[in-house]
Amino acid sequence: MKDVESRIAELTELIDRYNYEYYMNDTSLVSDFEFDALLRELMELERQYPQYALPTSPTRRVGGEVNKSFQQVTHRFPMLSLGNTYSIEEIEEFEARTRKLLDGVPFSYTCELKYDGVAIGLTYKNGELVQAVTRGNGTVGDDITDNARTIPTIPLKLRGDYPDDFEARGEVVFPFEAFEAMNRQRENDGDEPFANPRNAASGSLKLQNSAECAKRKLMFCMYFMMMDDEKAADGGRRFTTHFGRLEAAKEMGFKVQPYIKECNDINDIKFFIDFWDKERWNLPFGIDGVVIKVNQTELWGRLGLTAKSPRWAIAYKFKAERVSTPLESVTYQVGRTGVVTPVANMRPVWLGGTTVRRATLCNADYMGKLDLHEGDYLLVEKGGEIIPKIVGVDMEQRQAGAPKIGYTEVCPVCGTKLVRADGEAGCYCPNQDGCLPQQLGRLEHFVGRKAMNIDSLGSERLRMLYDAGLVRNVADLYSLRKEQLVGLGSREEETLFSINVDPLDLCDEASSNLQIFKPSNLQSESKSVSEANDGGSPTKKSASIQEKGAENILKALEESKKVPFERVLFALGIRYVGEVGAKKLARYFGDIDALKAANVMELAMVEDVGEVTAVAVHDYFANAEHLAIVERLRKAGLQMRMADTRISNVLNGATIVVSGVFENFSREEIKASIEQHGGKATGSISSKTDYFLTGEKVGPEKLKKAQALGIQMLTETEYLEMIKGQDE
Ligand code: IVH
Repeated sequence: MKDVESRIAELTELIDRYNYEYYMNDTSLVSDFEFDALLRELMELERQYPQYALPTSPTRRVGGEVNKSFQQVTHRFPMLSLGNTYSIEEIEEFEARTRKLLDGVPFSYTCELKYDGVAIGLTYKNGELVQAVTRGNGTVGDDITDNARTIPTIPLKLRGDYPDDFEARGEVVFPFEAFEAMNRQRENDGDEPFANPRNAASGSLKLQNSAECAKRKLMFCMYFMMMDDEKAADGGRRFTTHFGRLEAAKEMGFKVQPYIKECNDINDIKFFIDFWDKERWNLPFGIDGVVIKVNQTELWGRLGLTAKSPRWAIAYKFKAERVSTPLESVTYQVGRTGVVTPVANMRPVWLGGTTVRRATLCNADYMGKLDLHEGDYLLVEKGGEIIPKIVGVDMEQRQAGAPKIGYTEVCPVCGTKLVRADGEAGCYCPNQDGCLPQQLGRLEHFVGRKAMNIDSLGSERLRMLYDAGLVRNVADLYSLRKEQLVGLGSREEETLFSINVDPLDLCDEASSNLQIFKPSNLQSESKSVSEANDGGSPTKKSASIQEKGAENILKALEESKKVPFERVLFALGIRYVGEVGAKKLARYFGDIDALKAANVMELAMVEDVGEVTAVAVHDYFANAEHLAIVERLRKAGLQMRMADTRISNVLNGATIVVSGVFENFSREEIKASIEQHGGKATGSISSKTDYFLTGEKVGPEKLKKAQALGIQMLTETEYLEMIKGQDE
């Protein structure tokens, strides 16, 4: 056993070293293959001999812990924010004030990047990571240790010399390249893409399953080391300056960005700011400014704090870059649900590291507000968000008498008169079944991973099928025969991609390896035909379908007949019915016939289904063509009713309202469990409610109402007790 123990220790150290060299020094000491083999060996040994697994084992980076809710933790040192400014004059004032307050004491500044991410604090005791906490409100944050462990640039075990108890602070950022790859994947999977890397980083740290967080390729940039003063003194000279602390942190194994400079006066500071204001677009991650700190840590106490921030540091925030460029044309894109998005095509202009040619005009309302006229110059801005935004019209350049540019009244693809629903900012094309991008979009949605998951049919193959006249709607897919598929697609690319809807590549000349993104509000709706995802189709756009490919398609279609009803309902692509809505409707009505027969009032009774969605569902089933498609899908063998998942009838029709966070179930899971045991899970408390099932952090309003009505309360443990033994 000694052998096992020492092999585990040896592997832990080896993998840790390879990881360090790879993530900190960009050096691969072994091939991926060898690395994976070592990791697998360690995992296997740890599985067999968990008693020897080390808490700092690199296998813990793979994640797997599931948190239903994050523990709230009070910060040992409050997480202060910094005073910030967009004005160089205020930086000059800060510098002069600091010099005055320090009254002749020699000191210097450090200038460093202000990372645009999520602040976290990492506590290390005796060289081991013991806790990671988000900033929260500065006093109390969320314990996200399991997720933090999956970030390769967060050391689990420190190297060399380190204080025995301290906190490393820094920012978790989402590097552009990883962010873009993730968003592409999300789009392929039918998930909403993240608006920007900061939101994505924040969302990733709050993922309940750390194995998911491990996939996100986050990076930790350390910028601060906190420790008790006497500990700092013990550490000797290297902890008496901020610069020295970061140098020391680097030796301990932290990723400290090299862009930090010791500055002696305001000119050095201004030079640093100017440099990064221009150069920031060439970094592989986002920054939104520069942070200036007094370097000598013993002077921090002397300078003290204002109400919320230290007097020894300040942040300079970069202004959004803005240019003015002539509008050349307005074109429109049509999305899967018919939403029509106007796009401004502009004279190409260099802005924040990329050439911008196109930007969204969002919707009819926004375009109306801009009040565009022919020949107008548009003001385009790029903040920290990468996506260029049209913020206005340069009125000084407006030519007298220039004709106004109105929003299109007809669909740019099929010519149908557009409709504007009450209270909506945009218009849509109502020709659902005859408008090409809508038809293709619906087919793509139908085969998506979260819907029918037919991954051998990507957008290009769907287009082939469409062009060949074999598929016009989702039901046609199930009539396909092998002989129709084999050989399909060996035609010219031009015929495959002839549709006159431009892809929205806003910027196409990146100055370096910076990745460019489409505007987030266009991403889900306006995927145009030619840029839509490949979804597993052949790499060559015009590659024809071979025998094997045809068989795979038919097999996948066959497999999809097992997909549960709720996903079939989502796959139909009914306006406003997302994944959750479909699940709720499916559960509530049980089968497609009950759903078809429901009136708007009944539909709106379903939790989370608002009136707008209820009307959309009703309209969908009032359409004879849709009914015919649904019938054909039913005949093809798709699931049109909820599978009987009943386990017992112990709850005997009891109506139960759930609230709060549960230890053993997610909210959806506990509701499903209630139904599986013969109960009804509803959303709001009424006199008809039999039980109020509560977890942690119960909604106070619901609690008050339940108490007022004298509803019987049920804890999670009591609930588990009720259903116990019913599974067998
Ligand atoms: S120092 C007590 N340095 O910017 C000062 N902050 O309000 C601790 N940030 O919440 C912060 N990059 O999350 C510092 N190089 C950097 C930073 C940085 C980003 C964030 C930090 C803080 C906010 C400033």
